[in-house]
Amino acid sequence: MAVTVVVGGQYGDEGKGKVISYLAFADKPSVIARGGGGPNAGHSVEYNGKKYKIRLVPSGFVQKDAQLVIGAGVFVDPDVFLQEVKDFDLGTRCKIDRRATLITQEYKDLDGASENSKKIGTTKTGMGPTASARASRTASFVSNDERLTPYLCDCHEIVNGSKNVLVEGSQGFMISNLYGTYPFCTSKDVSASTVCAEVGLGPTRVDTVVMVIKAYTTRVGNGPFAGEVSEEQAKRTNTQEYGTVTGRPRRTNPNLIWDEIKMAAKVNGANCIALTKIDVKFSECANKREYNQLSERAIEFVKEIEKKTGVPVGLIGTGPDAQDTIDRRAELGIKR
Ligand code: GTP
Ligand code: IMP
Ligand code: MG
Repeated sequence: MAVTVVVGGQYGDEGKGKVISYLAFADKPSVIARGGGGPNAGHSVEYNGKKYKIRLVPSGFVQKDAQLVIGAGVFVDPDVFLQEVKDFDLGTRCKIDRRATLITQEYKDLDGASENSKKIGTTKTGMGPTASARASRTASFVSNDERLTPYLCDCHEIVNGSKNVLVEGSQGFMISNLYGTYPFCTSKDVSASTVCAEVGLGPTRVDTVVMVIKAYTTRVGNGPFAGEVSEEQAKRTNTQEYGTVTGRPRRTNPNLIWDEIKMAAKVNGANCIALTKIDVKFSECANKREYNQLSERAIEFVKEIEKKTGVPVGLIGTGPDAQDTIDRRAELGIKR
């Protein structure tokens, strides 16, 4: 059995969707399991000239042979789920653990209206109130919504009974409820251990933890953010981005924040880094698919990351398409 877990090493939006879709084709997992928050996530996948924006179902759905499953720890908005099933033509291919928590209209309204949510700058998808309800034991399981009946499963049985599993986390280490910039953070821990627990995998099952980092840093929502530059400066360095779920402009630091990345690598137990958007930082690297085609300054940057974190950079993103990826895992001895 080989298990690979993908997590975010910064503030979310590192490009996990693209990395996961690449791994879904390269490693051909039999099961792709989604852990992490819920519909607050926004993953972008570009494949074969098509663009998908995904909030709840696994981003690896583009690989049609894989069984898809949403773990017990994920908060499920049934309307978002059913819309994605329809938009991506999934039929009943994507299952949901019967223990997963149902997001209701009441929780969404609470998240939309509360002063505290405004202060944090939440995605207003109902995450915080759903987490409170689950902790208080007043929340319902997904099985309470009859429309979800055809999709229910036991995720732990599916993942533990498979040969090759890809587990998708969401959000990023610095907005973890446990390790991030509390109280400006999301409602759960989002590190690799928690994501595994959420899909029913124990720590001894995991082979590879891929921590995704972008070649610069962005943050959506409020809270501390070192080295933040103005929107104009971000545009000048081509690093200005806009949110997938909310469309909000993302805050930018054109560099990496080393202390945070080093801590993220440790707590996640990362043994592979996936570096995305190296072509945005170094335009001459666009669409390269071999490591030795990267420029000298780009290779220096990769080496600096490896030296400071102690973790090999096994995957490098050089463009938006899933296939715009340099895969060094074999040469670095990273298990897949
Ligand atoms: P996650 O939430 O971590 O999944 O990231 P995201 O999908 O929210 O990020 P965003 O919405 O900003 O989308 C990233 C966009 O950048 C998508 O269109 C990706 O295809 C694209 N992208 C991902 N990796 C790379 C890369 O290495 N280079 C370039 N140029 N684009 C990339
Ligand atoms: P919530 O998760 O909607 O409660 O939002 C709490 C904080 O986490 C806000 O600052 C959000 O902008 C941020 N956040 C939640 N999910 C994501 C994500 O997937 N990417 C980036 N930021 C996120
Ligand atoms: Mg995102």
